[in-house]
Amino acid sequence: MSMAAIRLHRTHPVEAVLTVGDGTSVVLAGWVQRRRDLGGVIFIDLRDRSGLVQLVFDRERGTPDDVMRAADRLRSEYVIAVHGKVARRSPETVNPNLVTGEFEVVVADLELLNTAKTPPFAIEDGFDVDETLRLRYRYLDLRRPAMQRMLMLRHQVFRAFRRFLDEHGFVEVETPMLTRSTPEGARDYVVPSRLQPGEFYALPQSPQLFKQLLMVAGFERYYQIARCFRDEDLRADRQPEFTQLDIETSFLTQDELLTLMEEMFASVWQEVLGIELARPFPRLTWQEAMERYGSDKPDIRFGMELLDLASVFRETSFRVFREALANGGVIKGLLVEGAADWSRKQWDDLIRFVAGFGMRGLAPVAFLPDETIRSPIGKFLAPTEIEALREATGAKSGDLVLIGAGPAATVLQAMGQLRLKLGHDLGLVDESRFAFLWVVDFPLFAWDEEQQRWVAEHHPFTMPRWEDIELLETDPGRARAQAYDLVLNGYELSSGSMRIFRRDIQERMFAALGFTPEEAREKFGFLLDAFEYGTPPHGGIAFGLDRIVMLMGGGKSLRDCIAFPKTSSGTDLMVGAPSPISPEQLETLRISIRPQAGAPADSACGVAPSVIR
Ligand code: AMO
Repeated sequence: MSMAAIRLHRTHPVEAVLTVGDGTSVVLAGWVQRRRDLGGVIFIDLRDRSGLVQLVFDRERGTPDDVMRAADRLRSEYVIAVHGKVARRSPETVNPNLVTGEFEVVVADLELLNTAKTPPFAIEDGFDVDETLRLRYRYLDLRRPAMQRMLMLRHQVFRAFRRFLDEHGFVEVETPMLTRSTPEGARDYVVPSRLQPGEFYALPQSPQLFKQLLMVAGFERYYQIARCFRDEDLRADRQPEFTQLDIETSFLTQDELLTLMEEMFASVWQEVLGIELARPFPRLTWQEAMERYGSDKPDIRFGMELLDLASVFRETSFRVFREALANGGVIKGLLVEGAADWSRKQWDDLIRFVAGFGMRGLAPVAFLPDETIRSPIGKFLAPTEIEALREATGAKSGDLVLIGAGPAATVLQAMGQLRLKLGHDLGLVDESRFAFLWVVDFPLFAWDEEQQRWVAEHHPFTMPRWEDIELLETDPGRARAQAYDLVLNGYELSSGSMRIFRRDIQERMFAALGFTPEEAREKFGFLLDAFEYGTPPHGGIAFGLDRIVMLMGGGKSLRDCIAFPKTSSGTDLMVGAPSPISPEQLETLRISIRPQAGAPADSACGVAPSVIR
């Protein structure tokens, strides 16, 4: 039986009904959103990528009988093409909920292009559909307007970044996916080699080493929209594979690079959102960010900064505070305006909250209208201390001060988290704002308790601040890096650094990290070799594009702005990955799977173990 070719060919997207004018003849194509039969007149909402429009099938307005009968058989998500005329609706039938609601299309001809099974959920926004189901049927989920908007936004954002970089002399270069481990610090995803049995490629955690090699190669300004892979614990703002806007430049100072990047963000926000960003972005040193916000990625959309109360309690007889200071710790406070009447239960909830971040306690001090205080530690505080506290925090009567004392790292983090919680709970966060800032002068090293050695806070090629180079040998913990993060609304959007480009400094860095020259050579030999051939001063940065799109589009999870994301356990529910592979594939790779401890010998991953030695 010969198949009939498609008869009706689309002439316009749905949204064109807004502009073509009353009476224009159009062929539209798309999906049936819904069908209503009002006593012989059939209404169909037709959906395509551009929107929805109402189709009218009405004998009295010229729809032929066979088309009426065919319209009767249409169901949700059937794919159709219609030929008809655009008509302006009478005022009382205008649908204000539809962008095209002032128009409809009176149908003269209909072609059924395809039928559809009943979808497992309605293709509409605003329904609370189980995310597992959405991910399993992602192609249907992606039909929903919200998802369509998000992916279009993503496309516009990518295009805007590309355009800016193109206009500023950057060259897009691709780097390998099958490579060696890069020094980013998460676990690698590895790919076994068939040709070199027993050896593995690593998927790149970032193109870090390659982009530095491109600077050695003389490209001066590189960028790439690069897929990166990291086997780490997943959260709402982390995916195992994600996309970076990766950048490296030669001969720019840190200041010049940051200024250029600000210009790039301003241009992207202007082009995509029509929003003018104030520049320059604020810059905070890491130290300041930690002291004032208890975070290296502060959300500065609201105030409520951490207040330093060491000077208030320097002479205190309250043991907890005294010991905190004596042990080199800190005392930090938060001023919560108008919260003096919070109940004991509310205090307890906050205490439990900070305990979750390792803090041993939290002292509330409520300043009452009668000039007295209400506080569990009230009896330990001298009147002069209370006065000094009032002064240091600016507390007025009716306000509450929350005080945390202990080791700096714990208190700063816990109080920073408490600040965020209170900011959100009390509605202090202006959700409409985009509050960018740079955090600069990160520490060069972090102390690794487990390995009992210094590890690179960023990576081993990060340049120390020139004036701190001497500290590499004398006091590594105090050395600061020429490293910077861009932060937006409390999210880390990017990290970057100026790189070490001279061999003598690199060797001192490796020594500080406890690498022998042999270990350094074994890990990074090719890079060190390359660095001997005239390496320009260089530095760069990488932006998490998924996070950028999520924040621009008001998404709550990276899964909202990636077409085919993974769940928090790293699986793709639609394609069913990861999955076992066949014994033949394993055999070719000379890989054997050990059964999991406790599992019957032949059940591991569904393959018989020890096929190969
Ligand atoms: P870094 O490791 O900080 O730096 O990564 C840069 C940015 O990438 C984003 N990001 C992620 N996004 C989603 N899911 C993840 N699992 C994930 N991990 C990181 C973040 C982060 O700020 N090579 C260096 C950059 C450089 O020095 O130039 C690097 O990769 O937004």
